[in-house]
Amino acid sequence: MSNDNKSIHEFDFSLICEYFSSMERQGPGSPQASLKALSFIDNLNSESRIIDLGCGTGGQTMTLAQIAPGNITGIDLFPEFIRLFNQNAEKLNLQERVKGETGSMDALTFQEEELDLIWSEGAIYNIGFEKGLTEWRKFLKTGGYIVVSEASWFTGERPEEIEKFWIDAYPEIDTIPNKVAQLQKTGYIPVASFILPENCWTEYFYQPQVSAQEIFLKKYAGNPTVEALIASERREAELYSKYKAFYGYVFYIGKKI
Ligand SMILES: C[S@@+](CC[C@H](N)C(=O)[O-])C[C@H]1O[C@@H](n2cnc3c(N)ncnc32)[C@H](O)[C@@H]1O
Repeated sequence: MSNDNKSIHEFDFSLICEYFSSMERQGPGSPQASLKALSFIDNLNSESRIIDLGCGTGGQTMTLAQIAPGNITGIDLFPEFIRLFNQNAEKLNLQERVKGETGSMDALTFQEEELDLIWSEGAIYNIGFEKGLTEWRKFLKTGGYIVVSEASWFTGERPEEIEKFWIDAYPEIDTIPNKVAQLQKTGYIPVASFILPENCWTEYFYQPQVSAQEIFLKKYAGNPTVEALIASERREAELYSKYKAFYGYVFYIGKKI
């Protein structure tokens, strides 16, 4: 099918996918932060079943896989991300125990109590924090862990410009104590939470986008959708730099009881 036959929506998605495919990560994070989160997990062995929801091209999954024993399935809505995920697993010779599958985090087909660890970096917002925690819980064994990173407020109040931006983008953004309370309310022991360091946004997320943006703008010169996409990514980076004292990503780690 040519792009002419696609709806604007489909075309937007394929452009967004192409843009983010060229980067190792599709959200803020770093190998060091993933490994810090993994350090709280004490139930894994070579038989363990781990899933990474909204895995993207697998930046964080490959980091995990090099330390965590067991089998890891990465799930993402976008087939192109999964194709790159499986290519990355093969490059690292992890393909026997690390596999990517196309699927949606709101239609998982695992057995109840099948999983030892559910991982999801910067992606649970797609289903909603509380809904994801609630719906995914049944797939975890008792004593199994959930590890998610999620946009969170650092302060009780914040400037109007950034408040408005986030309420439009993701109204479920909340303070850390409120997110921890949701973790407890949905049936997990809140094992740990920590703020992702600033370099997870700058060095690992926004900086790699700078050259990708130049390439993309050249390739799609004059395309208004691409121009709007890049403008919105640039605005997001500017807002982060201006208001990083007020928000960021936080890892939440829970144990199913
Ligand atoms: C911000 S990116 C994070 C990707 C990766 N975890 C990372 O940290 O680099 C969010 C990911 O969620 C995926 N996604 C969106 N909706 C989804 C859904 N319903 N089910 C599974 N994945 C989804 C997107 O394709 C994207 O790869």
